[in-house]
Amino acid sequence: MKTGTVMMRGLVLSLVAAAGLGLTACDTPDPADGVDGEVSTRKDDSPGHLKQQLRGLLAANHITPIAPPPAVSPAMFALGEALFYDKILSGTRDVACATCHAPQHASADGRTLNVGIFGVGIGPSRTGGMVGGRHTQPLFNLHLLPGNLTIDGKVELINGLVNPLGLGTDFIPYPVQQLLGFDVVNTQAILPIATGQEMLGFPDPHDNNEVGDCAPFDLNCVWSAYMARIVVIPEYQTLFAAAFPNTPPAQYNITQVGVAIGSYEFAAFAFDDSPWDRFVAGDEEAISKAAVRGALTFFRSDKGNCVACHSGNNLTDLKFHKTLTPMFGPGGTVPGGDGPGGLDDFGRERNSHNTADRYAWRTPPLRGVELTAPYGRLGQYTEIEDHILHYINPTQALLDYDITQIETPALHGTLLGTTQAILASGVDPLLSTVHITPADVPDLVAFLHSLTDDAERDMNHLIPATVPSGLPVDQ
Ligand code: HEC
Ligand code: HEC
Repeated sequence: MKTGTVMMRGLVLSLVAAAGLGLTACDTPDPADGVDGEVSTRKDDSPGHLKQQLRGLLAANHITPIAPPPAVSPAMFALGEALFYDKILSGTRDVACATCHAPQHASADGRTLNVGIFGVGIGPSRTGGMVGGRHTQPLFNLHLLPGNLTIDGKVELINGLVNPLGLGTDFIPYPVQQLLGFDVVNTQAILPIATGQEMLGFPDPHDNNEVGDCAPFDLNCVWSAYMARIVVIPEYQTLFAAAFPNTPPAQYNITQVGVAIGSYEFAAFAFDDSPWDRFVAGDEEAISKAAVRGALTFFRSDKGNCVACHSGNNLTDLKFHKTLTPMFGPGGTVPGGDGPGGLDDFGRERNSHNTADRYAWRTPPLRGVELTAPYGRLGQYTEIEDHILHYINPTQALLDYDITQIETPALHGTLLGTTQAILASGVDPLLSTVHITPADVPDLVAFLHSLTDDAERDMNHLIPATVPSGLPVDQ
């Protein structure tokens, strides 16, 4: 853990010091070794009693073993896999879904902000690409995110229809939505490829990007151009025929691409065997004492009350909250930035068109969160401890935010002077129900780490050696 160094900065240090906690408290060895907190003197903190108390909270919060993902045929998986790793699905032929959602980086990229077209490499070492306005979200257990994707809900179901980018439920024609199964994951899969900075590129008569030459937002042009590239490749013809045996080749279109990629994501990134899952299923010994204490803090309404927003089996209410987090970077880039100079990101308001939703963000799911640093919608905190410390006094944490702790020096100068606007837009009332101290943080971290399935730690076996286009796959 690099915690020590980061916690020695600014606010964080003063909070830790104020609590009289030695910095070594963060160097807690392995929570699983059962070292119990030295501080607690409560009479009722025997491990048995704490677990009993936790079981009561789980029942009250309807926490149950998670549902399996939808079944996917091997042929569908094979097609989705090829498309997920194939850079042919970018106008510039240098970005695949897996460039940002890399198995090597727990289905994210380990970066503060994502980097799309014109880049080389993956993860933190990707160089030269265009920087996007948000931090890449992981793809764990997408079947537990029904009807609402991304940090501002820009792909969401409204009355059973998909509303993309706040453009309306009729923006994607009904028959297209029907072929996509009215499913947000399938639909989301055909949007990054139409997004300039991420995968599409921009009109330029001198380059080799016929897809990027489509007029902005002419999705039909973009999708048809990708299909023209794909259907001429014999290996794709074989994969499509196996995955969609009832669809004649003349009817291949972008909806099969969406369904195949969505199916692949559901199946490849579903994990249900974290220590927490085993504890929920009844294994009393599955999580450490520290994790039990952390879970109690997380679920108790008179303590962390994290569950007020991080609710349900996937630890998100899928709702939007003003959590007073800072703004930096190029702004909300798709379909354009907000505020003066376009450098701001209005969050949920971008899709709801309601100014009351300005600077509100979807509660992220927390499964596998140990592996997906940095944290927050911008990756604004390098260490998970700092993200948790933010909740002690969010207003002060926003005012004191230290951008130099992010590991991208090029972004250090981009902190936007919108702190007062963020404060003026209001704060989620639930934030004031969070009662934690720095002393609670190590236990909360132990709980959050119990949400990691060991199989998530190394997903390299998912990466195919080659893809049908013959373009290189980042290993
Ligand atoms: C250039 C980097 C980049 C590429 C390429 C990319 N993504 Fe993403 N992805 C992101 C970022 C950044 C977010 C978060 C966006 C937001 O919250 O507004 C995201 C979010 C998502 C989500 C929503 C996750 C959640 O928690 O709601 C899914 C699903 C997803 N991407 C799938 C894909 C698929 C499928 C592809 C390929 C077709 C793809 N992405 C290509 C960067 C990328
Ligand atoms: C008012 C609702 C709310 C409450 C209460 C809340 N959270 Fe959050 N949480 C959010 C939102 C919204 C974000 C995303 C904020 C952002 O990215 O700027 C978030 C982000 C996080 C993240 C980063 C996840 C990631 O993938 O980057 C962690 C970790 C986290 N919360 C843990 C906690 C803990 C622990 C508590 C209790 C002490 C808590 N949260 C209480 C709404 C809430």
